[in-house]
Amino acid sequence: MIFQPGPLRGDVRVAGDKSISHRALMLAAATQGTIAISQPNRGDDVLATRDAIAALGAEVDDRGETIVVTGGRLHDPTSTIDARNSGTTTRLLMGLCAGRGINARFDGDSSLRRRPMERVARPLRALGAEIATTSGRLPASVSGIAPPPGGEFALEIASAQVKSAILLANLDAKTTVRITGDHHSRDHTERLLRRLGRTIAFDGETIELEPGALVAQDIRIPADLSGAAFFLAGAAITPGSDVTLREVGVNATRTGIIDALRAMGADIEILDEREMDGEPIADIRVRYRPLHATTLDGDLVVRAIDEITILAVAAAHATGTTKIRDAGDLRGKESDRLATITETLRACGVIVVEYPDGLDITGGGAKAPGRTLLTHADHRIAMAIAVLAAPTGPHAIDDEGCIAVSFPDFTPLWRAAQISSG
Ligand code: S3P
Repeated sequence: MIFQPGPLRGDVRVAGDKSISHRALMLAAATQGTIAISQPNRGDDVLATRDAIAALGAEVDDRGETIVVTGGRLHDPTSTIDARNSGTTTRLLMGLCAGRGINARFDGDSSLRRRPMERVARPLRALGAEIATTSGRLPASVSGIAPPPGGEFALEIASAQVKSAILLANLDAKTTVRITGDHHSRDHTERLLRRLGRTIAFDGETIELEPGALVAQDIRIPADLSGAAFFLAGAAITPGSDVTLREVGVNATRTGIIDALRAMGADIEILDEREMDGEPIADIRVRYRPLHATTLDGDLVVRAIDEITILAVAAAHATGTTKIRDAGDLRGKESDRLATITETLRACGVIVVEYPDGLDITGGGAKAPGRTLLTHADHRIAMAIAVLAAPTGPHAIDDEGCIAVSFPDFTPLWRAAQISSG
């Protein structure tokens, strides 16, 4: 398929937040009672979680716009849980099973089988669960304990998935659970726990979860800032663009993309800030304005972890050399994203220097490539190529199917925003 050049205009409501949708489904599965989750992300990753919680004993009534879950009585699955392409499904559910005495085996597709699982296995073993991985990867099996003893955990890496796995493993702990070492990674699990009646605090150093029960409450899902990010960056770099993204989650642990684009000089307005079931949301308007280089490192990278590839594309259209550092974890995502975005940008004539934990990207030289660009079956690379094509396309990609992992409606929404400019 081919992404065409052209500015982005109009109003867009992108897919529901993927991270919050996973967590809402899992916490609903852990709660006695019925929870309606509306406007969930309907990408393949979230559907993998929907199917997994059903296999673990939750009653799931998927009505499309709403998924209704009746939980609280989980049991061992009768077969291996297939997490497909989804790291969040695997790591968070390993946590939930570990703290509920559940025995389960996890597997996934060839991309997921390459991704590191010891980061979550280690703290779950410390809790007393038995976890066996295959040389640190999938397939993995969990033999859980109930109730979990609680205690103190120090995060080895700034990963929201590991933090959330520990929280899900300790939902039934009878004493306060403490987690240190969080670097402002996404806090959706903590917010949903509060919405469902739990007491959880974070003083900037330590997260403390108090013992208690989950109380059923319906949950509406904001639009995904990680999906909106493609439109934000596309509009920021394509002359003639003026696009407004509606009902987008603007949780400060996720807004690194906005801060980074603004640091590059982008014209971004945050409008009508409000709340949706415990998460801050807003409408976001972006208009084209020339960008300049910046440096992305430290906590900003954690707060933009899924948007670094898009920021690399923006850097290719900025004046000067943008430096990205502290981003080595991107090598363990759906593809080695530092390598795949380097390959993509170089194919378009952009000068990129690759480091173990980052990139230097010199802007200004991007042109249409003479060949089809490879997505490496990575949804975020496929959509980053659409962004790259907006000012310099057409760009053809080898695999459109992978986009459905997080954002099945991306291509029609993208084309509609380009047509409204036409
Ligand atoms: C996610 C956390 C991030 C992110 C992933 C989703 C989550 O991973 O890259 O797409 O929902 O918790 P890490 O926790 O490994 O950084």
